[in-house]
Amino acid sequence: MQALTKIAPDRTELKKLPIPRYGARDVLVHVRSAALCGTDLHVYNWNSWAQGAGIHLPVVMGHECCGDVVAFGSEVKGIEAGDKVVAETHIPCGECYQCQNGEQHICHNLKMFSIHTDGCFAEYAVIPAACARKIPREIPYDVGALMEPVGTALRAVAAAQVGGKSVVVVGCGPIGLFAVAAAAALGAAKIIATDSSAFRLAVAEKLNVDMALHSADKNNVQAVLGATGGYGADAVIEASGSREGIKQSFQLLRKGGRVVLVGLPDNPVELDLVKDVVFKEAKIIGIHGREMFKTWRQMENLLVSGKLVVDPVITHILPLACWRDGFELAKSGQACKVIYHP
Ligand SMILES: NC(=O)c1ccc[n+]([C@@H]2O[C@H](COP(=O)([O-])OP(=O)(O)OC[C@H]3O[C@@H](n4cnc5c(N)ncnc54)[C@H](O)[C@@H]3O)[C@@H](O)[C@H]2O)c1
Ligand SMILES: [Zn+2]
Ligand SMILES: [Zn+2]
Repeated sequence: MQALTKIAPDRTELKKLPIPRYGARDVLVHVRSAALCGTDLHVYNWNSWAQGAGIHLPVVMGHECCGDVVAFGSEVKGIEAGDKVVAETHIPCGECYQCQNGEQHICHNLKMFSIHTDGCFAEYAVIPAACARKIPREIPYDVGALMEPVGTALRAVAAAQVGGKSVVVVGCGPIGLFAVAAAAALGAAKIIATDSSAFRLAVAEKLNVDMALHSADKNNVQAVLGATGGYGADAVIEASGSREGIKQSFQLLRKGGRVVLVGLPDNPVELDLVKDVVFKEAKIIGIHGREMFKTWRQMENLLVSGKLVVDPVITHILPLACWRDGFELAKSGQACKVIYHP
């Protein structure tokens, strides 16, 4: 099979590899659609994060995927050949405190699919059965391939409790755009989005945001106050991972509101805790991935019902042979989600 492989820090190649062997607790999947994510760019560029992530080279890249089960190990239960599955990328140990208390997505010994295992930019992938989520047939492969990041965004929005309320999504990368879509699905009354990219703000408009604000515009805080009766937004989802975006999230929030932090800044960020958190009584919630499998069920229900619409975030679909074009598009900022068909 063809597999996009990170061979060495400065070498990434589409390689011909044998169909991978699977263990007693694994599922072998024929990958039909796989999506490019910021993490893949980090691994490709072999930046400081990738160097410290515990990746053993060579590794097959890619973690966001949807496909059909073709075989499974002797200890796997509840999965049949032909099932449509998506990889949940958090691999729990099943034994630690978190795993035994309903928080396996933040397992104490958490491993990540395609970081600690081979990934899915390939014709076939091995997914640990504990992370192979069977999804309804009605969900198309290309949407299935997005469910990992969509789930993160949906969970952030669910934690923000936006029903009937105003929400600002800071940052319109894929995660922020999926958060916009999720906020609409969960009944937000007013959705405002910010970004520095006109291209991405245009996609936010396609998702019917009430206001799309350029992040460099000095009047943003005023605009949000103006749209919220002078109070600030009930909830803010921080999906830029930038220092400025994180700081501004607290300025855009009303007293007593909820800030959900999803973005990952490269360095520690200083906050004015007295003004922005303590006297404001801001509720700060950190989100790492999806709850297993509460978020998945909620997401499947919303996708099948047509209430959660994420297709406008897909800007490019390419054969895996054109993998380099996808990486270039992602780097250029003139793309949101790039999908590969292996
Ligand atoms: N917590 C999690 O489980 C989780 C999962 C996936 C991604 N992430 C993180 O979430 C963040 C978003 O992911 P993504 O894939 O959408 O990344 P991305 O880099 O594609 O998107 C970030 C967006 O923020 C915009 N931006 C930059 N500065 C801004 C500012 N001051 N105000 C508003 N927008 C600004 C950028 O133009 C870009 O469009 C990243 O930091 C990523 O590492 C976290
Ligand atoms: Zn991802
Ligand atoms: Zn565990």
